[in-house]
Amino acid sequence: MPVYLGVDIGTSGTKTLAMQEDGRILASATVEYPLSNPKPGWSEQSPADWWQAVIDSVRKVMRAGKLKPVDIGGIGLSGQMHGSVFLDKSHNVIRPALLWNDQRTVAECSEIESLAGGRAELIRMVANPALTGFTAPKIVWLRNREKRNFDRTVQVLLPKDYVRFCLTGEFATEVSDASGTLLLDVVHRCWSAELLQKLDLSGSLLPKVYESEDVTGVLTESAAKLLGLRAGIPVVGGGGDQAASAIGNGIVGRGVVSATMGTSGVVFAHSDEVQVDPHGRLHTFCHAVRGKWHVMGCVLSAGGSLQWFRNQLCQDEVARAKKLKIDPYELITQEAAAAPAGSEGLFFLPYLTGERTPHADPHARGSWIGLSLRHGKGHLARSVMEGATYAMRDSLEIARSMNIPVQEIRLSGGGARSEFWRQMQADIYGQQVVTINASEGPAYGVALLAAAGTGAYRSVEEACRATISVVTRTKPKAAANRIYNGAFPVYQRLYQSLKSDFAAIQGLLK
Ligand code: XUL
Repeated sequence: MPVYLGVDIGTSGTKTLAMQEDGRILASATVEYPLSNPKPGWSEQSPADWWQAVIDSVRKVMRAGKLKPVDIGGIGLSGQMHGSVFLDKSHNVIRPALLWNDQRTVAECSEIESLAGGRAELIRMVANPALTGFTAPKIVWLRNREKRNFDRTVQVLLPKDYVRFCLTGEFATEVSDASGTLLLDVVHRCWSAELLQKLDLSGSLLPKVYESEDVTGVLTESAAKLLGLRAGIPVVGGGGDQAASAIGNGIVGRGVVSATMGTSGVVFAHSDEVQVDPHGRLHTFCHAVRGKWHVMGCVLSAGGSLQWFRNQLCQDEVARAKKLKIDPYELITQEAAAAPAGSEGLFFLPYLTGERTPHADPHARGSWIGLSLRHGKGHLARSVMEGATYAMRDSLEIARSMNIPVQEIRLSGGGARSEFWRQMQADIYGQQVVTINASEGPAYGVALLAAAGTGAYRSVEEACRATISVVTRTKPKAAANRIYNGAFPVYQRLYQSLKSDFAAIQGLLK
């Protein structure tokens, strides 16, 4: 049975896994690398580190799975989205890549909006507004601030597409990741000649765009030697990490939505037609399923809020958990479960790193509101979990308001592992939530794309049907759901009430 490699070039490390055609995972390995923050708000990585991590993780997986080069039928690539790798005419990397969480391009976002003829025009051309993390503002930043580097640039690649170039020698991308550059005509699934012209950028800077399961090239002799594989293995388009993760969660049909509570929180809905949020709060991107789209909301600190709470305020729980040889989150969750739904009027706004969906506000900040003498640590813990879940509900509500059907919510990430948080999500979303048999994320999704793209399955949908199934179902409890339905509008109003104060607080820090 052929084996497919899924490679995910993440922000903290690269994860590679080997998946048998029937979906069984044979081995996986992660190799980490550093992130650099040369100035406040800047976030960069070295593309050479990604490539070395790909080499090392593929070799580890081949060893751990006792695999031979001839076993490998295809490779799929996924990665952190929106990053920019700038190459010169000899195809050398010009400077460290700017990443998805880099915030230096506030001025360039305004510049793009005005060159495009306004926000509405920009959304008409590329389905999304300009956000600091996206790729186009980074290219404009290079032109504005590092003109010599810009003049030397002949090609701009996304992180996984730089790795593709190292593997195959081809400059290529695919529609899902290309959507996050802000340069793709998302409706027609090709680069937007119109926006490129308005921004005075040459289309020759950008690679060829494929559908995600298409073969974009084959492994070269030299790359094969480095990886310990054979030359000629097909490399399929793959997907940006969110679309790839959605494939790994089986989000390939109308009505199926995922809610992934990791460090960030992502609500992801499949869509048969292109559907654009006129206010630009949800991203509208091409899906990694041929001819389909998705909408997506991204909460920057979802599970990250609870992680912050654990790190800053739960030294006692961390020490006890170490003695008991359990995860500290188990103890924190027990304390949270002792407080009632709604945390007796205590709200937590999870904007510890600003917010993307629905507020797109880098100045928003985390807050506890409603504290009284009644509140103890359990209330604090519970309110943090509730705040992160309300933030996810914000995205679900926008999707519902766009008439995107939400028939099944599939949970993944850390928030899906705890029974308590699964119940809270069902109660806050007001709908049954389910979990599935796969939890390997983007690397699994692109291994499935590699299997489908090289002919093991007729389509990505068929690959998902054959490998993914529901394993748990959690229904909302009426009493808790009533409490949360009453609290949610208050939660929503709190940001509006505090918005100008968040900006004023930012002013104090300058
Ligand atoms: C998606 C996004 C993140 C990054 C890094 O829009 O910004 O998911 O891809 O994981």
